[in-house]
Amino acid sequence: MSTRLRLGVNIDHVATVRNARGGEHPDPVRAAEIAAKAGADGITAHLREDRRHITDKDIERLTRAIALPLNFEMAATEEMVGIALKHRPHAACIVPEKRQERTTEGGLDADGHRETLAPIVKTLGDAGIRVSLFIEPTPSQVEAAIALGAPVVEFHTGRYAHRTGAARADELRRITDMVALAAKNGIEPHAGHGLTYDNVAPVAAIPQIAELNIGHFLIGEAIFVGLEEAVRRMRAAMDVAR
Ligand code: PXP
Repeated sequence: MSTRLRLGVNIDHVATVRNARGGEHPDPVRAAEIAAKAGADGITAHLREDRRHITDKDIERLTRAIALPLNFEMAATEEMVGIALKHRPHAACIVPEKRQERTTEGGLDADGHRETLAPIVKTLGDAGIRVSLFIEPTPSQVEAAIALGAPVVEFHTGRYAHRTGAARADELRRITDMVALAAKNGIEPHAGHGLTYDNVAPVAAIPQIAELNIGHFLIGEAIFVGLEEAVRRMRAAMDVAR
């Protein structure tokens, strides 16, 4: 079975550039509108504890202004659960968060934090928010997601993206196997992190994957070709692979 592959555009780094100077420019909401026009199926934004890029006001504006579904990336904290319940985004992707990291450097240890995650998954789910767990492609993490009743998992493709040769092929195999395991158990598999025009095709070709979330590369490419063109090219690369 091959589902249509959706593209979620992560706009965090539009806010990173804005925050470098303060003020309002460039505006992540405008970026979301352009991404929508270029063929994105969803917008992803991560409200970090330290608000280093996306701010509370951005989340409020995004939920009000954009027509596309919002995937709200959040740490498993009381504060973030409260914000999710206030804005009721289409989806909430629970990610690990370390203050010192430059980006989300690894997957969530869903297996090691089942007790903390269980009430969060339930509370968000009861509020009609589609919960996703951002995990490494390992059996124990998929089993934890099944036990927690998460409807979606997003597999962290960082290791795949940063490796080369046989090591990358191994990681792709691991992702492929875990995508199949998740799908077999009724979980919708997504993937993301570190994806570019050059490495997206093998991941996009995994038939059960329903969505890719891509940010840093697209926002960087937008400097050279514009955001609309960058998103269009990524959409095309995904479609060719699928
Ligand atoms: N998915 C999740 C859960 C993420 O945390 C990130 C990075 O913020 C991405 C996807 C996108 O990764 P990248 O910016 O490397 O494309």
